[in-house]
Amino acid sequence: MSQFRIKRIGILTGGGDCPGLNAVIRAVVKNAFQEKIDIVGFRDGYLGLVQDDFQPLGPADVSNILTRGGTILGSSNKDNPFHLVEKDRSGKIRRRDRSGDIPQNLKKHGVDALVVLGGDGSMTVAEHLSRRGVRIVGVPKTIDNDLMGTDQTFGHDTAVSVATDAIDRLHTVADSHHRVMIVEVMGRYAGWLALGAGLAGGADIILIPEIPYDERKIGETILDRQKRGKKSSIVVIAEGAHPKGGKMVVDRINPLSAERIRLGGISRELAGHLETQSGLETRAVILGHIVRGGTPTAYDRNLATLFGVKAMELVAKRQFGKMVALRDGKLGSVPLSKVSGKIRIVPLKHDLIQAAHKIGVSLGN
Ligand code: F6P
Repeated sequence: MSQFRIKRIGILTGGGDCPGLNAVIRAVVKNAFQEKIDIVGFRDGYLGLVQDDFQPLGPADVSNILTRGGTILGSSNKDNPFHLVEKDRSGKIRRRDRSGDIPQNLKKHGVDALVVLGGDGSMTVAEHLSRRGVRIVGVPKTIDNDLMGTDQTFGHDTAVSVATDAIDRLHTVADSHHRVMIVEVMGRYAGWLALGAGLAGGADIILIPEIPYDERKIGETILDRQKRGKKSSIVVIAEGAHPKGGKMVVDRINPLSAERIRLGGISRELAGHLETQSGLETRAVILGHIVRGGTPTAYDRNLATLFGVKAMELVAKRQFGKMVALRDGKLGSVPLSKVSGKIRIVPLKHDLIQAAHKIGVSLGN
């Protein structure tokens, strides 16, 4: 491969936002400045790349954004350039493959390589673009921590921390009112967030999608606690958790989105059933998007900075078609083909699950 000098790099943030996106953008832009490389930011994820909506990014643009949640570039978890939803002149909605516009737009701006910050949807698109010759490097983000090929995504630590804080606060409400409080957290089809925050928040019961639960057993655990003098119980449930033989609760279907299903609401369903079964007042609290907003933790700021710098290293070494990864505490990379179209759920033998068992936390099974 010819070793042409990389002069300009494009960057975009795709998928649901999370704390740390700005910290990665900052690291990339600052590192690029040192290396005399220009950065072009594309707005609102892949949409900006297709529609050629962009902004040059220099050190002044990333000043004071390390601690800022969200993304200065905007994001989208709906727009897949291979099936972009568009309205025709009559207002009718149709899907079109606009991926062909991407190489053209990159060429127009003299962009030699693209850095994509995103979750599994964005990495899947990145892999398809990479197979079509776009020089691309991925950076793993998501509060869900469900990306294949890396032990950690940035944003997850902050979400765990915010959810833990909420659980801490709900302990006192539960105690004062002798209630069962059910706290529902996001995480899609993986239980990383519920497990991490549930353990850190001292939950009595943690329910995750990987372990379908038995409502009768949950009721027994709560009544058993009551017999032992515990007047309140805290249940942390992942939005994707479901009873044995039952289904996940869908909050909404967005026909215009690349991923149509949005989960949510299982806590309300469970609260109703448990209240009837146990006779104890039971309330559901859905944390939802709150855990996605605000300042990243120190851990996420540093992980994001390391990831940004590593992405620049991969570009400099022409290691395209790869995603930055953290495995066994070491920073490295993984081919996008190993990430694309997959998700990483919690292995049943994971240390957090074993620890929960060993300290008597019920996983509802
Ligand atoms: O992937 C991040 C995430 O927050 C999931 O945990 C959640 O299921 C989904 O995005 C929510 O998406 P939206 O922001 O479209 O409601």
